[in-house]
Amino acid sequence: MIKKGIILAGGKGTRMSPLTKAVNKQLLPIYDKPLIFYPLSILMLAGIKDILIIVNKGQLNQYKKIIPNGNNLGIKISYLEQTKPRGLPDAFVIGEKFIGKENVAMILGDNFFYGQSLTKQLKENTKLKKGARVVLHKVQKPESFGVAKVDKKNKILSIKEKPKKYLSDLAITGLYFFDNKVINYAKKLKPSKRNEVEIVDLLNFYKKKRQLSADIIGRGGAWLDTGSIEDFYKTSAFVSAIENRQGFKIACIEEIALNNSWIDKSHIKKSIIFYGNCNYSSYLKKLLNGKK
Ligand code: TTP
Repeated sequence: MIKKGIILAGGKGTRMSPLTKAVNKQLLPIYDKPLIFYPLSILMLAGIKDILIIVNKGQLNQYKKIIPNGNNLGIKISYLEQTKPRGLPDAFVIGEKFIGKENVAMILGDNFFYGQSLTKQLKENTKLKKGARVVLHKVQKPESFGVAKVDKKNKILSIKEKPKKYLSDLAITGLYFFDNKVINYAKKLKPSKRNEVEIVDLLNFYKKKRQLSADIIGRGGAWLDTGSIEDFYKTSAFVSAIENRQGFKIACIEEIALNNSWIDKSHIKKSIIFYGNCNYSSYLKKLLNGKK
C-alpha cells in the first residue's frame, strides 16, 4: 500500500501573471476554496495520510495559514521548499527523506480530478508494488499535452511530450504512482533545453524496463488542468455547477476525513471556528447534524 504522497505546489505560474505575482497559483480560488484543496482531497480519497507539500521558497507561511498541519484532518502534513522550479522530478530529490524506503504518489498542485468511480480507482493504484503508473485521460487536443500510447493490458508503449504527429489522444495527467527507485532515477536526470528536469524522461526509465503502466480515467470522469486563467474559470464553473445542483461540495477535505473515520465531529467543530462564519463552515455544520 502506498501510504505517502507529495503535492508539488510551487512553480512560476507565468501563464497566470499578474494574478500569481504576489500569490502562488495553488492558493487562488477554484470557485469556493483554494486550488490546493483539490489535489489534497485526491490523495486523501486514495487513503494517503502522510503528505508532503512542496512550495516555493518564501511562500511557506501563506500555505500554513490555510493548511497548518493536518491535525484537524487526522493526517500528517509536512512542508518543504523548492528554491526554484527545477522541474517536476525534483520533487523526489527534495522529498528523499520524506519518502524513505517506501513507494510514493505524486500529484501536481494544479490538477483537478472528479468522477464517480475515482476513489475506487485511486485505491487500486495505491496497491502498486513495483514500477510506475501514470493516470491518463482522453483529450481533444493531444498536441498540447504529454501523451501515452498503451497496449491492451495498459502497459505503456510510448510517451511523448506535446507530439506534433498524432501518437494517441490519452494525455498524461499530473497524478503518478512510483516505487522507491524513483529517487535514484530522479537524481540521474539532466536538465532539458528549457533548463528543467522532465517528467517524461523520468517515466522513460521505467518504460525502458517495461515497468510503466497506465490507469485510464473513462468518460465518467473529468480531469482539468488549471494552468491558465481560462482553465481556472472553466474549472470554477464546473465546480459551481455540480455543487449548486447536488448540494455536495467537491474537495471538502474535512468531509473526506470524516468519511474515512480519520476524525470525529469534535474536529469538525474546530474547523468551523478556524474558517469562521462563511459558506464553507455552513456546509461543515450540516455534516455535524448528519444532513449530508
Ligand atoms: P507548470 O504548469 O508546468 O508550471 P507553473 O505552474 O509554474 O505555470 P507556468 O507554466 O504558467 O509558469 O507546473 C505544474 C505544477 O507543478 C504547478 O502546480 C506548479 C508545480 N511545479 C513545481 O512546484 N515545481 C516545479 O519545478 C515545476 C516545474 C512545477
